[in-house]
Amino acid sequence: MKRLILALDVYERERALEIAECTADYLWAVKVNWPLIIGSGLGIITELRQVTGLPVIADLKLADIPNTNRLIARKVFDAGADYIIAHGFVGREGVNAIMELGETIIVVEMSHPGAEEFIQPATDKLIELANELEPFGVIAPATRPERVAYIRSKLKPGIKILTPGVGAQGGKAGEVLKAGADYVIVGRSIYASENPREAARNLHREIAGV
Ligand code: XMP
Repeated sequence: MKRLILALDVYERERALEIAECTADYLWAVKVNWPLIIGSGLGIITELRQVTGLPVIADLKLADIPNTNRLIARKVFDAGADYIIAHGFVGREGVNAIMELGETIIVVEMSHPGAEEFIQPATDKLIELANELEPFGVIAPATRPERVAYIRSKLKPGIKILTPGVGAQGGKAGEVLKAGADYVIVGRSIYASENPREAARNLHREIAGV
């Protein structure tokens, strides 16, 4: 089973397509974030799906009023995104507006040190929200495997846990998968390496050994 998600945070269309194509064999999905969408346009989502045949996750971390979330999500799903990442702290209506249009992933805790300031104190409530709305998955920090284990213990079984923070931010794929994550999200350790295909293959092998 493939459990690796590529965070494709480059600006240039050609480079993005090249890296996605050469790593696709080892990926479950490709994640696009604002840098690539700003650099290459929304059409990159359609192209990535065509080139890789993989699901595309749009990591927009949407956090707006329901109507604006809906307006944005509609265009992004129309472009071919299979999943959208959204913040839950704006309230259930904001998340629901996206879920009515397609598969959604809710951030319940972030991977950077600053997550301890505001998001971590709200994690229990965000888990409750996820359990109520039953999205495809939640985002949890690969940098804190103990928090992933905690989130897994509170989350309804069918809801997937996707964890950014492996590699450049210090998280270890094996540790976080053992803690209960379903997928690991890796950006710089793959796309900024000299040989992205080899970097993805090494991570894929590490994951397969868990
Ligand atoms: P790196 O280069 O650090 O890239 O491997 C990680 C990717 O994941 C995103 N990211 C997050 N997304 N919650 C999220 O929804 C998080 O806590 C989080 N931490 C990292 C980051 O923007 C990049 O695309």
